[in-house]
Amino acid sequence: MPPANFPMKDRVVFVTGATSGIGLETARSLARSGARVVLGVRDPVRGHAVADEIGRAGGNAEVLPVDFVSFDSVRRAAGGLSATQPRLDVLVNNAGVARRRRETTADGHELTWQTNYLGHYLLTRLLLPLLKVSPAPRIVNVASEGHRTGRLEWGDLELARGYGGFRAYANTKLAQVLFTRGPIGYEVWAGIFASQWMKVLTLVVIASLLYHVWVGMRDIWMDYVQPVGIRLVCQVFTIVWLVACAGWAIQVLWRV
Ligand SMILES: NC(=O)c1ccc[n+]([C@@H]2O[C@H](COP(=O)([O-])OP(=O)(O)OC[C@H]3O[C@@H](n4cnc5c(N)ncnc54)[C@H](OP(=O)(O)O)[C@@H]3O)[C@@H](O)[C@H]2O)c1
Repeated sequence: MPPANFPMKDRVVFVTGATSGIGLETARSLARSGARVVLGVRDPVRGHAVADEIGRAGGNAEVLPVDFVSFDSVRRAAGGLSATQPRLDVLVNNAGVARRRRETTADGHELTWQTNYLGHYLLTRLLLPLLKVSPAPRIVNVASEGHRTGRLEWGDLELARGYGGFRAYANTKLAQVLFTRGPIGYEVWAGIFASQWMKVLTLVVIASLLYHVWVGMRDIWMDYVQPVGIRLVCQVFTIVWLVACAGWAIQVLWRV
C-alpha cells in the first residue's frame, strides 16, 4: 500500500514484471488507489489480461512490452514511455529472476545479472528525464534480504568462475541496494580505486612510508643498540616486518 502522505490519484506509475507475484499485486493495489499504471511485461498477452482485469475493477492500466534480457527492448520501452507519458511519478523496478544454471544473454551478459540489475539500471537512467518532470518522483527497487549474502568481486561481477544460482541472485540484489543508496558516488569511487594506476600509486605511497620507517628504525638500532649481534637481529626483524607489510598491501590491492 502506498503511504497515506503520498496519494496515488492520477500519478503515472511504471511497474516492471507486472504479470505475476509482487509486481502484479503492486499494479493492482496502485490502480485501486487511483494511479495510472503502465504494466512493464515481457508477455503482452498476459499483460493485456492483467490490464483488462484492472480495467474491469475500475482502474486504469496499459501495457508496455519490455524484456530485460535485451538492452534493445529496454531502450524501446523507455522510448515508448517517454513518447506517450507526460511524466513518470513512480518507477517500480520489480521484475526479477534466479537461474540455477549460468546463461548468457544476446548482449553477452550473465542472464540474472542483466535481468535484475543491468537492465533495470539502464531503464532507470533512460527514464530519469521523464521522472524529473514529476513534482515528487520516486524510484522503488524491489531488492531482497538475500542481498546480505551478496559479495561483489570487481574482477568477476558476472560470476564467470564459481557460478551458483543463489550467489548470482544475491549479488544482483546487493547491486540494487548499492544503486539505491547512491550509485554515482559509489561507482565513481569504486571505479577510480579499482583502476591499475590508482593501485600502483597507492603501492608507491605505502613503499615510500615503509622506506622512511626503515631509515628511522635503522638509525635507532645504530645509535642505541651497541652489541652487533642484537643490532643485526633487530634489523632483520624490521626487514621481515616491512616486507610483510608490503606483501599485505599488494594482497589487498590486487586481491591475490
Ligand atoms: N517472492 C519473494 O519471496 C521475494 C522476496 C524478496 C524479493 N523478491 C523480489 O521481488 C521481485 C518479484 O518477485 P516475485 O516473487 O513476485 O517473482 P515472480 O512471481 O516470478 O515474478 C517475476 C516477474 O518478473 C518478470 N520477468 C522475469 N524475467 C523478465 C524479463 N527478462 N523481462 C521482463 N520481465 C521479466 C516475470 O514475467 P513473466 O510473468 O513473464 O515470467 C514476472 O512478471 C523480484 O525482483 C524478486 O527478486 C521476491
